[in-house]
Amino acid sequence: MKKVIFTLLVALLPMVAIAAKGPAWVDHVNNDVSDVRSLQRGAQVFFNNCMGCHSLEYGRYNRVARDLEIPEDLFQEYLMSTDQAIGDLMTISMNRDLGKQFFGIAPPDLTLVARVRGTDWLYTYLRGFYADDSRPYGVNNVVFPGVGMPHAMVDAQGLCAEPPKPVSAVSIDPLTGERISEGGCERYLTEGTMSKVEFDQATYDLVNFLDYMGEPRQLERERLGWLVLAFLTVFLAFAWLLYRELWKDVK
Ligand code: HEC
Repeated sequence: MKKVIFTLLVALLPMVAIAAKGPAWVDHVNNDVSDVRSLQRGAQVFFNNCMGCHSLEYGRYNRVARDLEIPEDLFQEYLMSTDQAIGDLMTISMNRDLGKQFFGIAPPDLTLVARVRGTDWLYTYLRGFYADDSRPYGVNNVVFPGVGMPHAMVDAQGLCAEPPKPVSAVSIDPLTGERISEGGCERYLTEGTMSKVEFDQATYDLVNFLDYMGEPRQLERERLGWLVLAFLTVFLAFAWLLYRELWKDVK
């Protein structure tokens, strides 16, 4: 028995190690991949702000255009660079070695990042940059200390002066009922073009899009699920009629 318990404990050890490596907290995003409008906005944020460094090379443009219900000509005109075709994989022209030289580490492909890191982590990471002069690009990140990525959305969000706090940390003064802490970034060194609510929404859309990218069939699966339910409902009606017919004479 002791041996069994010991073996179990040893088998579970790696899980403890993985759990211990995670950040102390993350904000929850509760995104909805069936919201096609949000996915469209997320794709726009991604292609305009991230594609300079990150590829989505396990996916093709035309698949995204089809799933997100964006007409191919509009997609090509607004979201793609001119030297690529709509049937191409979503690669980028930045050379990995050059990327490594610039940032110390080559920007990774992000097709599967939502599955590897989880959507809550991504949502917190993308809203989690703050000023830190000791870093080469002047920023650090609450869930990725020592990150090599510059703050790509600094113009939109503004530059946070200190590590943003968890949104769950919103606290209310019991005497006055006023909010003392809002969570997220509370003091900015430079203002962004978006308000905090707008930036949270843009990040939500972006994370939603990356979640879809990690598993594009999620959309089909959901649509198919409804079809199957509809079929079962109709089938149930016929089965019940048949049942009534068969038992009519027996009773
Ligand atoms: C100027 C180049 C650049 C831009 C633009 C950029 N990134 Fe990055 N990104 C990097 C680099 C470099 C890393 C690797 C950081 C490290 O590992 O220290 C990285 C890492 C990441 C990671 C962490 C991946 C992992 O699992 O370790 C995510 C997620 C990410 N970027 C998302 C984005 C998104 C979303 C955008 C657009 C809003 C974006 N990046 C724009 C350079 C960039």
